[in-house]
Amino acid sequence: MKTFVILTTLAATALAQNVYVDLPGGPELIAGDEVTIQVQRPNFLSGSREIGIAIGIQSCPTEPCIPSESSLGTELYNGSFNPEYHENAIPPYENFTVTIPEGTATGNAIVGVAHASIVGASNWPFFEVVNTTATVI
Ligand SMILES: *[C@@H]1O[C@H](CO)[C@@H](O)[C@H](O)[C@H]1NC(C)=O
Ligand SMILES: *[C@@H]1O[C@H](CO)[C@@H](O)[C@H](O)[C@H]1NC(C)=O
Ligand SMILES: *[C@@H]1O[C@H](CO)[C@@H](O)[C@H](O)[C@H]1NC(C)=O
Repeated sequence: MKTFVILTTLAATALAQNVYVDLPGGPELIAGDEVTIQVQRPNFLSGSREIGIAIGIQSCPTEPCIPSESSLGTELYNGSFNPEYHENAIPPYENFTVTIPEGTATGNAIVGVAHASIVGASNWPFFEVVNTTATVI
């Protein structure tokens, strides 16, 4: 019973830490152009402190992308992550303006975000990789 409670608490805590990656300008990206990548972190409540994130784009026009957990592809950003409230309707987020590398193949791509934080009084190290699909046009 106790184990169950602890496991559920951990699962709930893990969910509360999840970031979400959005392309507010839409999923169509142009090689050589700047694009805004928005990383949202829905919840401030569980006392998590951000370590940082890395953002990458993997181009996979002809074959399925390999999991972002294995490769972020071309690195677009690495460093601090400071999600803040802006618009009421959107969870706390930070915008990252990056340049899609010149010469990125047209077709399917994946934008991956690796996210690390420290959670709660026990300083639980939390790590996840999330993604969103895109098309290079
Ligand atoms: C992207 O995230 C989804 C949902 O978590 C997952 O099912 C999929 O395998 C991920 N794709 C890559 C390329 O990592
Ligand atoms: C990643 O971080 C290193 C060290 O701060 C920096 O030199 C490099 O430019 C960063 N790369 C990207 C793509 O942000
Ligand atoms: C983040 O980017 C979106 C899309 O470009 C924009 O609407 C929003 O105002 C930006 N937020 C901030 C705080 O700059």
